[in-house]
Amino acid sequence: MYLEHYGLKEAPFNITADGSLFFQSKHHKEALATLLYGIKERKGIISFTGEVGTGKTTLCKVLLKEIPKEFKTSLILNPYFSSSQLLRAIVEDFGIHLKRVSRLDMVYALNKFLIETAENNSNAVLIIDESQDLTAKQLEQIRLLSNLETEKHKLLQIILVGQPELKQKLEFESLRQIKQRISVNVNIAPLDVDEIKDYIKFRLDLVGALNLNFAEETFNPIYEFSKGIPRLINVLCDRALLAGFAKNKHIIDKELIHLCIQDLQ
Ligand SMILES: Nc1ncnc2c1ncn2[C@@H]1O[C@H](COP(=O)(O)OP(=O)(O)OP(=O)(O)O)[C@@H](O)[C@H]1O
Ligand SMILES: [Mg+2]
Repeated sequence: MYLEHYGLKEAPFNITADGSLFFQSKHHKEALATLLYGIKERKGIISFTGEVGTGKTTLCKVLLKEIPKEFKTSLILNPYFSSSQLLRAIVEDFGIHLKRVSRLDMVYALNKFLIETAENNSNAVLIIDESQDLTAKQLEQIRLLSNLETEKHKLLQIILVGQPELKQKLEFESLRQIKQRISVNVNIAPLDVDEIKDYIKFRLDLVGALNLNFAEETFNPIYEFSKGIPRLINVLCDRALLAGFAKNKHIIDKELIHLCIQDLQ
């Protein structure tokens, strides 16, 4: 709606988890490097947590592009199925096609696939987003998959991605077996106050903003509202662009930001 007014190729503050507008904040960069390390070193189960809207799903999309091409990957975005449906989804996502078969057949086929993958000097990575919602049964299923290994190394690297509730869940006595198998913990924190400016500038540059600027005075109120959480920054900035368009402005100033914060609250 406001694209033409500001000379934009696309909306800069979209709230989809789109890896193409990925900003390498200090925490995102470190998290990406640690995830890649855990995968390459065949660490087995990795937990990857962060508050709502900090960029976990976005980082998973970026991770998939960074993983060596010969590695086999499966990304489960919404694990809202039963534990055997979850197993089926994983198997299918790895490209293993099976007709109606039992759970045992699926584990057998997956094991065969993983051994072949390792023999080809490749590696297999399973990423499960929204893991804070996994049931105890699903987590047990995942633990069993992490048992697939040779004498030398883990055949399947599993990344459990989730909100901080995932950590709390793993503290349950009944889930201690899976907790013990987690060898790498990655956490992403929100952006620092001084990263907000770079984040906004980065996203504006990517969409070729010719006729649009955020005044220096806006970054503190944006931080106060968002606490550095990218989704909240996007929601506020998108609202500000709309308000600026309505008022025929090309510079987003403090007044505009304050108005939008009031609206959003
Ligand atoms: N490093 C980043 N660079 C660019 N955009 C980002 C970054 N991190 C997050 N975002 C943006 O923030 C929004 C929320 O990100 P995302 O959906 O990945 O968060 P999440 O942690 O998966 O949230 P939830 O806990 O709700 O699943 C998206 O619009 C995304 O584009
Ligand atoms: Mg997410």
